[in-house]
Amino acid sequence: MQRRQLIQTAGFTALALSMSLASAQDSNKFKIGLILPMTGQQASTGRQIEAAARLYMAQNGDTVAGKKIELIIKDDVATPDVTKRLAQELIVNDKVNVIAGFGVTPAALAAAPLATQSKTPQVVMAAATSSITEASPYIVRTSFTLPQVSVAMGDWAPKNGVKTVVTLVADYGPGNDAEKFFSERFQLNGGKVVEKLRVPLRNPDFAPFLQKVRDAKPDALFVFVPSGAGAAVMKQFLERGMDKAGIRMIATGDVTDDDQLNDMGEGALGVVTSHHYSAAHPSPANKKFVEAFQKANPKMRPNFMAVGGYDGMRVIYEALKATKGQGGGDALLAAMKGQIFESPRGPVYIDAQTRDIVQDVYLRKVEKKDGQLYNVEFDVIKGVKDPGKAK
Ligand code: PHB
Repeated sequence: MQRRQLIQTAGFTALALSMSLASAQDSNKFKIGLILPMTGQQASTGRQIEAAARLYMAQNGDTVAGKKIELIIKDDVATPDVTKRLAQELIVNDKVNVIAGFGVTPAALAAAPLATQSKTPQVVMAAATSSITEASPYIVRTSFTLPQVSVAMGDWAPKNGVKTVVTLVADYGPGNDAEKFFSERFQLNGGKVVEKLRVPLRNPDFAPFLQKVRDAKPDALFVFVPSGAGAAVMKQFLERGMDKAGIRMIATGDVTDDDQLNDMGEGALGVVTSHHYSAAHPSPANKKFVEAFQKANPKMRPNFMAVGGYDGMRVIYEALKATKGQGGGDALLAAMKGQIFESPRGPVYIDAQTRDIVQDVYLRKVEKKDGQLYNVEFDVIKGVKDPGKAK
């Protein structure tokens, strides 16, 4: 009897001990819920960001301030209803400390109210409509905004022989931002926007739009389509002989995306774009980043999405270090604001007021380097804040 009691007690103690260990272990964890489009039209964004996040962890360890970092990756197929459900599950069931990722604007916006309600920092690593950071005070962005990069093209084009333009953008948040901010600046500089065309985001057929551009015969076509759709626009632009008809393509760097550029063919040579990241950015930090990324992912070249993911992990790690894991979401958020660092893209900081990233914007031209196509930077505008916030 006594013996059985003893064994039972011992059993209980062991159970209690393992339970308390489990909860101790849990509080020693720091969970990042990474919501990304891993399948569907935007899958390249998910692939790039996952690879970059894993690289950051491999380089910086998976224990920070005594906490074990756990990355929980969920596929939202870039569908806002799914994003919302996944964000809810991650916050309520998995008790994540941060939600991050967000491949497209509607996904980032769908999660925003949940970040606010639960006081969970939401690190937007990809989506780039200006207004996103205003959807929740818990959003911090490490990607870019379309106004930030489009204004640079509105300044460059009129000085370089482009007097008339047709704009062609994907018909949703970032496309509308690109169209507005490029056009306003281009017109301010004396350029004329002949026509503004918008293509559907889902399964776009560019042919009828390009026919219209041919008929309008502007000096240049200004394009924004989201990462992953650039190759299709470029292909149809070239197949229709637009370049031969004397129409130049100018674009945001989303079109000459490093993920696809090398497969676009020589027709892409000479295309000028404005953007915040090129895999060919000639800094030592970027060379190190690209080398390590390609060593870990031999078939991939990192694009701007990868850098948004890599820097997003950096912002999370440094916030955790600074707070030592104390103080919850509000403390973490406070420690994300104002971070200044050298990104593979160049020097950046997180504006403490807007929680948006401030960064250099480059003008780049597609050139051949070592037998491969790259966006080669030839000019830079330093420390660009999102112009969308001034409005
Ligand atoms: C967006 O949906 O905000 C978005 C997606 C891909 C891009 C840019 C913006 O390349």
